[in-house]
Amino acid sequence: MPNTVLIGAQWGDEGKGKIVDVLSREADVVVRYQGGSNAGHTIEIGPERYVLHLVPSGILHADKINVIGNGLVIDPIALVSEIRDLLKRGIQAAGRLWISDRAHLALAYHQAVDASREGRAEGDQKIGTTKRGIGPTYSDKMMRIGLRMGDLVSDDYRRLIPQRLEEKNRQLCAMGAAPLDSAELVAQLAEAAAFLAPYITDTIVLLNQAYRAGKNILFEGAQGTMLDIDFGTYPYVTSSNSTSGGACTGTGLPPQSIQRVVGVIKAYTTRVGEGPFPTELNDATGEFIRQQGREFGATTGRPRRCGWFDAVVARYAAMINGIDCWAMTKIDVLDQVKTLRICTAYEAHGRRYETVPADIRLLAACKPVYEDFEGWQSKTSDINRYEDLPVRARAYIDRLCAITGVPAGIVSVGPRRDSTFRLTL
Ligand code: IMP
Repeated sequence: MPNTVLIGAQWGDEGKGKIVDVLSREADVVVRYQGGSNAGHTIEIGPERYVLHLVPSGILHADKINVIGNGLVIDPIALVSEIRDLLKRGIQAAGRLWISDRAHLALAYHQAVDASREGRAEGDQKIGTTKRGIGPTYSDKMMRIGLRMGDLVSDDYRRLIPQRLEEKNRQLCAMGAAPLDSAELVAQLAEAAAFLAPYITDTIVLLNQAYRAGKNILFEGAQGTMLDIDFGTYPYVTSSNSTSGGACTGTGLPPQSIQRVVGVIKAYTTRVGEGPFPTELNDATGEFIRQQGREFGATTGRPRRCGWFDAVVARYAAMINGIDCWAMTKIDVLDQVKTLRICTAYEAHGRRYETVPADIRLLAACKPVYEDFEGWQSKTSDINRYEDLPVRARAYIDRLCAITGVPAGIVSVGPRRDSTFRLTL
């Protein structure tokens, strides 16, 4: 398998977990490069359902090496409980999971600041974050006052936490939130440090050695292109580079190591949190898609906003990430929809837009221009071969690829490993 970056081409929740799981069979190493426990990658294997937040999805294959790269922000307490849960289900992490000593720590005070900011924000000031402390942790990284996984190993956190908390508690009090207790936080971290220490290493060296040895590497993106801090619908975004560019800075692997980029897209669009969403459906069809697609957040349980497929977004994602092919998920969710729509452009203030504008108010004013399709109105989730899909379903897929200028590599018609058709991938 060529070294592959797998990214979300919409607003996250495209079904990346399932596609990573399919592709990781051919990989030697699976590496996460950004985000933190705001992500929730769901994988169904037979009757078992796994939701992974920090651990790469390759952990579900016994022979894969899994790496949490330097670009992540890690809640150590959440990571310990994720690894423990996997152990309880018979999945071993020792010797197969490595955590970068340079990854930053998302701590209780980051979560408290995130939650309290969100709680106080009104109107368009609210981002709708997952309250996992993602933004405040990346802010501290940039401010050069962050703590890193390596500080857990060296015990430096014992000295740094009381220092940081002095300032953070002032901030929390000013926001009307309760201050945190330094001794309590240090005690919690001591427990997590003891548990995690064997997994923490210089993953940059480990990854580059694997690359030079010709191992196959799968970069597992989290969130999606429209949530990228630079390219997304700012400020309604997450705080990391979720696009393919982040794969290098978040792992320490050079650009030449990337040989292929796969964009995961849902056959329709969803988003959680606030912010403009031109093809959103606030009607019975939107509700139908939400129920059929089980569109409720894997991390927060929030109902996802649902809408038609937005080819403007997909083309923009293809351009930024250099997407070689799509992995298209959840075709089956549209099985019973009578008429389907694909948004091919936007219109606002008498002008036509073929790409996503930077101005968030302009994007909010954009009305989609649609192309309509007759639905196939038959069940696809039991179909075992791509050729057996209804003609109208294949026509929808073909048109979607033609409009976006990217071929389909994988098409998936259900959550299980075996409801996946591999076309060119
Ligand atoms: P944060 O990443 O928790 O700061 O949240 C910022 C925005 O990104 C919010 O709209 C979240 O709902 C969204 N978000 C963060 N992680 C995910 C994800 O894994 N899937 C979908 N949306 C996400």
